[in-house]
Amino acid sequence: MDKIFTAAIVGCGGRGCEAYGKLFYELKDKYKVNCLCDVNVKKLDKYSKMLEVPLENCFDDEDEFFAKKRADICVIATLDKDHVRQAIKALKVGYDILLEKPITDDVKECKKLLKAQQKYGGKVLVCHVLRYAPAYIKTAELLNSGTIGRLVAIQAIERVTYWHQAHSYVRGNWRNTKDTTPMILAKCCHDLDLLQYYANSSCTSVSSVGDLTFFNKQNKPKDASDRCLSCKYVDTCPYSAKCVYLDGWKKNGCQPNDWPYNVVTMANPLTEEAILEGIKNGPYGRCVFECDNDAVDHQIVEMTFNNGVKASLTMTGFTSTGGRIYSFYGTYGELVLDENVGVIKVRKFNQEEEIISLDNLAEGGHSHGGGDYGIVTSLYDMLSGKANFSTSLKASIESHLMGIYAEKSRLNGGKTYKIH
Ligand SMILES: NC(=O)c1ccc[n+]([C@@H]2O[C@H](COP(=O)([O-])OP(=O)(O)OC[C@H]3O[C@@H](n4cnc5c(N)ncnc54)[C@H](O)[C@@H]3O)[C@@H](O)[C@H]2O)c1
Repeated sequence: MDKIFTAAIVGCGGRGCEAYGKLFYELKDKYKVNCLCDVNVKKLDKYSKMLEVPLENCFDDEDEFFAKKRADICVIATLDKDHVRQAIKALKVGYDILLEKPITDDVKECKKLLKAQQKYGGKVLVCHVLRYAPAYIKTAELLNSGTIGRLVAIQAIERVTYWHQAHSYVRGNWRNTKDTTPMILAKCCHDLDLLQYYANSSCTSVSSVGDLTFFNKQNKPKDASDRCLSCKYVDTCPYSAKCVYLDGWKKNGCQPNDWPYNVVTMANPLTEEAILEGIKNGPYGRCVFECDNDAVDHQIVEMTFNNGVKASLTMTGFTSTGGRIYSFYGTYGELVLDENVGVIKVRKFNQEEEIISLDNLAEGGHSHGGGDYGIVTSLYDMLSGKANFSTSLKASIESHLMGIYAEKSRLNGGKTYKIH
């Protein structure tokens, strides 16, 4: 029988337990969650039951948890500013790590983590989940096999979706850079990682522009309230918490435990009353024009790679639906990965267009187009020696530097920064 790897999860939230914990629980022949660590004891209680972890293996103090190695791997899925500190503690006691992105927004921390990894030797796989999603894997295969000739330029669009922008970057965890990483890293370190992966080269320079243009007091209608449930626009403003959470949950079939509704309340299963209570009193019921946010709502990054490939990335909160659109321009054709429509289009010059449906590629039922499932199953193969580690901490840090310098550029009027 193949080895079953034990996993300790630090940060029992949307990613730690809802995404990875549940996948580990499903993949019983590969993984067993045996420890949890979270500062919130209600989460420990909820997920110890859901994932069948004994309460004596649940820790609400990270120092106590990291005092010794308690499992084969450690999943670090706390919020952005905790990642490097906890990853170094985990490496010191001998863990291999599945580390949530972004690693950090600080160049010194990147170097510190790399040094610790070289010293203690543990493997660190950063959760660039899209690398493991079938549509993105297929795109890499097509590009690498020369389908469109030599790649010259890439144009990437990250369509955040208006309600996701409001949920995460206006009302939620990633709204303010004093507590978290800038949005270009929080949302787009996946894109930056993919761009260097597809360009097949390291990025040499970046420049960026972007702003918070809409979600501020100046744009609040004069007669609107500070909280959605008492506002006259409660049913007409598309950003209204009632429209996003309560109406959205109903439209999506009142699922018992779906994101983002399960962020608004701890109730499990979800109920109408619990969601209403969450938006009545909690942060997710605030008017989007009355929050303590400074995250941008749109940003554009221009990049040059060492092999001459150029790329641009547009991140915008102002889209009605999600789904990335990546266009690749080569010397003998173009290729478009369009998640919004659900296709890859291959247009070789002077030939008929070929359309590949993403429905035939994606793993059903798992988020990030099958990327969450893909990273967890690939990690198993990597840990058991059946596959090499698909990407290194060094490569992940390279793409983080692109984001760190893009943000520096944005704050300095779009100045171009050399990365190396
Ligand atoms: N890979 C992806 O595509 C992807 C998608 C979304 C979020 N993320 C990243 O995943 C991370 C977690 O996001 P989330 O949505 O799960 O957030 P979350 O708020 O749902 O979960 C974070 C958890 O960490 C706990 N926590 C806080 N401080 C702690 C500490 N010192 N020790 C232990 N636990 C602590 C919180 O109580 C919470 O339960 C973030 O860094 C985010 O950027 C990655």
